[in-house]
Amino acid sequence: MSDTVPVPHGLPMERDAGPFDPPSQITRLREARPVSPMVFPDGHAGWLVTGYDAVRQLMADTRFSSRQDIGVLHLPYETPGMPVFTEPSPQVPGLFVAMDPPDHTRLRRKLTGAFTVKRMKMLEEHISDIVERQLDEMARLAPPIDLVKEFALPVPSLVICELLGVPYEDRETFQVNSAKIMVKDQSFEEKMAAYGAISTYLAELVTRKRAEPGEDILSDLARDDDLSIEELTGIAFLLLLAGHETTANMLALGTFAFLEHPDQLAELRANPDLLPDAVEELMRYLSIADIFYRYAAEDLELGGETIRKGSTVVVSLLAANRDPQRFDNPDTLDVHRKARGHTSFGHGIHQCLGQQLARIEMRAGFDGLLRRFPTLQLAIPAGEVKLRTDMNIYGVHELPVTWTETAR
Ligand code: HEM
Repeated sequence: MSDTVPVPHGLPMERDAGPFDPPSQITRLREARPVSPMVFPDGHAGWLVTGYDAVRQLMADTRFSSRQDIGVLHLPYETPGMPVFTEPSPQVPGLFVAMDPPDHTRLRRKLTGAFTVKRMKMLEEHISDIVERQLDEMARLAPPIDLVKEFALPVPSLVICELLGVPYEDRETFQVNSAKIMVKDQSFEEKMAAYGAISTYLAELVTRKRAEPGEDILSDLARDDDLSIEELTGIAFLLLLAGHETTANMLALGTFAFLEHPDQLAELRANPDLLPDAVEELMRYLSIADIFYRYAAEDLELGGETIRKGSTVVVSLLAANRDPQRFDNPDTLDVHRKARGHTSFGHGIHQCLGQQLARIEMRAGFDGLLRRFPTLQLAIPAGEVKLRTDMNIYGVHELPVTWTETAR
């Protein structure tokens, strides 16, 4: 492989190619050297993986350990004050996304029953009701309104709260603090304080559920004596955060993307049967959960490069999903594309546990929004939409929208 390609210092983040496209430096790197050396801001060397095949191979290989961040904060080397890890980081009880087998296997197994395709199918109608109620409220407002605040954030928050048995009235605690955790340049101390606030709240909640279980996922877990209160708290934290931040950003950024591709939107409006494929394509095209960390537990070969034991390896799922070797015209949003096989829900043993839920929420969300607001449009110029380049999950901070008519 070529050694003439410049080694990135820090992760290229600037969306210089457009709000929906990977940073141009990432695209160039994928073409020249899909498994590339990189240098982190603290000066230590690692690897950046951008090619589709290499990303899939890495995520399917558990010798690339997930114990490379402290589980909640991700992007450790982007956070000022973070300690440098040259070996697997300590495990946080319950946060199985940052664990390897057998610890990961033990905890994930406790949850697979709760998130099966069948269980999620049964919820479909209920999720559509939640979407319709939220759209009723939105339709009563005088436009312009912020779609994030009135629709994209409430829908997945309501759904995950109900599933887990977290009172929705308490949403301030987790929405405000999870936003603090997701900000990239927040200090380590501030992130830990935000994490502490959510954990304290959830520890009390799961303790109450252990004493008096109800009809929800956290209660079901609390009935299992094999799980400690610390583990229950960690699992609750993971599900609550993963369950609302991601889908909320897909709904908001996805709407922005549709409004910026009026030809695609018109085709979708004309043929709503395209929606399931269009949702997969949006997932591929936007790849909002882009950057993930792994840690080489032994010397490993990847894409013709030798990765030494102890190296930090960063993957870009967005880069993989825009790889022309895997998808034709990868930078085009095409609602007719069969985009399955994208890596936006990850790959391998950590593949997203909530993906069926997320799909149902997105289908119901876009279906309802497009049907009820046939004249939906941006209320500000596209260039003024505030993008979440400062957050771990990409999206928009606000999406001011307006309309002239509503429908049932
Ligand atoms: C894992 C993306 C929605 C729960 C993951 C991973 C990705 C991802 C890329 C793999 C992480 C890794 O390999 O380190 C997304 C996206 C979503 C979404 C883009 C929305 C569109 C959800 C929802 C839940 C959820 C609604 C609800 C509970 C989880 C959990 C894991 C996970 C628990 C960890 C799985 C494990 O480590 O075994 N997600 N997710 N996600 N996701 Fe999602």
